[in-house]
Amino acid sequence: SGTVVTESAVMNKDLGIEGGKIAAVEDKLDGPAKKVIDARGKYVFPGAIDVHVHLNAAVPRTVSSDNFRTGAIAAACGGTTTIIDFATQEDGQAVEEAVAARLREAAGEAVIDYGFHIALTDINEQTLAAIPSLVEEGFPSFKLYMTYRLRVDDGEMLRVLAKVKDNGGLVCVHAENHHMIDYLIEEYRRTGKTSPKFHPLSRPLLAEWEATSRAIKLSGLVKAPIYIVHVTCGKSLAEIAQAREQGYPVMGETCPQYLLLDEDRYESPGFEGAKYVMSPPLRPLGNQAVLWNGLADGDLQVVSTDHCPFYYKGQKEMGRSFFGDIPNGAPGIEARPTLLYTYGVRQGRLSLQQYVNVIAANPAKIFGLYPEKGTIAAGSDADLVIFDPHAEKILTKEILHEHTDYTPYEGAELKGFPVVTIARGEVIVEKGVFTGKDGRGKLLRRRRPNLI
Ligand code: URP
Ligand code: ZN
Ligand code: ZN
Repeated sequence: SGTVVTESAVMNKDLGIEGGKIAAVEDKLDGPAKKVIDARGKYVFPGAIDVHVHLNAAVPRTVSSDNFRTGAIAAACGGTTTIIDFATQEDGQAVEEAVAARLREAAGEAVIDYGFHIALTDINEQTLAAIPSLVEEGFPSFKLYMTYRLRVDDGEMLRVLAKVKDNGGLVCVHAENHHMIDYLIEEYRRTGKTSPKFHPLSRPLLAEWEATSRAIKLSGLVKAPIYIVHVTCGKSLAEIAQAREQGYPVMGETCPQYLLLDEDRYESPGFEGAKYVMSPPLRPLGNQAVLWNGLADGDLQVVSTDHCPFYYKGQKEMGRSFFGDIPNGAPGIEARPTLLYTYGVRQGRLSLQQYVNVIAANPAKIFGLYPEKGTIAAGSDADLVIFDPHAEKILTKEILHEHTDYTPYEGAELKGFPVVTIARGEVIVEKGVFTGKDGRGKLLRRRRPNLI
């Protein structure tokens, strides 16, 4: 008796679950059941899908503080039932080795279903030759960085775009102009401007805008689809919108931090601004409304988290004497569904169906998981969230399960909160307590993407 919300309908229904799948979507189900969950007065959403997380991720000098177990528990507590992380090739490493290593790390640890994008960093004949079998084996999405030590150059990007396209896959791009950033970071270091407030100045909007525009043009040259990760600003969004208008298969995501927080956070007292050191950085306030509109009108299709947590104490603090040494990233895997409901649906920026689209259905479609995941229909996985639209909470670090010592959303007033999370038919979270079995998450071998 819940209000079932899918990407295409809002309906009062009973759901029957059998063998981990949705077996029936009916007006009324009376048959005997092992367990009955009363969802009266609640929404029933498809389990949320987070296609951009960094668990147990090695970065210079440290490792992100959630592993596949703790990060997946936090995700589940917030209503997320599927994650896609990254297998990142090291310099000189065969891609297959990078994938095998990541599979070993996650196996027996993750408590929700998980997949991997493959981050290609060392582009050579061997790397390109690995692409067809990776797509066949269920890893059809590839990540390229235009900055960091992991970056590829334009020529390498073109070769990957063409090869991935020929094999029906999708390239995801972190778009920031490396040389602009490198130059600015060095200038700030040289002139003694070392505090966290110089981080956003060293990664200006211009660097993201230029790289987004260039990535889209490179993909246009070889007619390859492209997905821009963590879009932060109106300028980048306009590039995506313009390309889509012209019929190019360009897609993009943004994240709650860019929708809800702004560059003022870098003015926090003392070293606190380090909590918001992420790349790209938070932007001037005016960009938020543009990003919300982009989600509502479909030029941005996905909200992911880019969850890459570090402890403030001991990890963020590594950059006390220079912002360039602060590990980049922020936590967010747990609160995305409630934040997006509270500040998206409740504030009239997204309809219920748009909400389901951007956190579940579109990610499933784009990343080859639909209709098993991302919707509620007979035959789909019984990944469900029972969501109380009247529940009121103040978001604090204490109510979250993420392994870190802060949340960027401390003090946010929430209205609407998940009360039960069901994954493949199993209740894994009830009233904020994780009840699922250790290591129950399944590796998802995904099909080729759908372009939307
Ligand atoms: O600062 C961030 N976003 N850290 C995670 C890695 C990335 O660039 O997505
Ligand atoms: Zn990135
Ligand atoms: Zn990321």
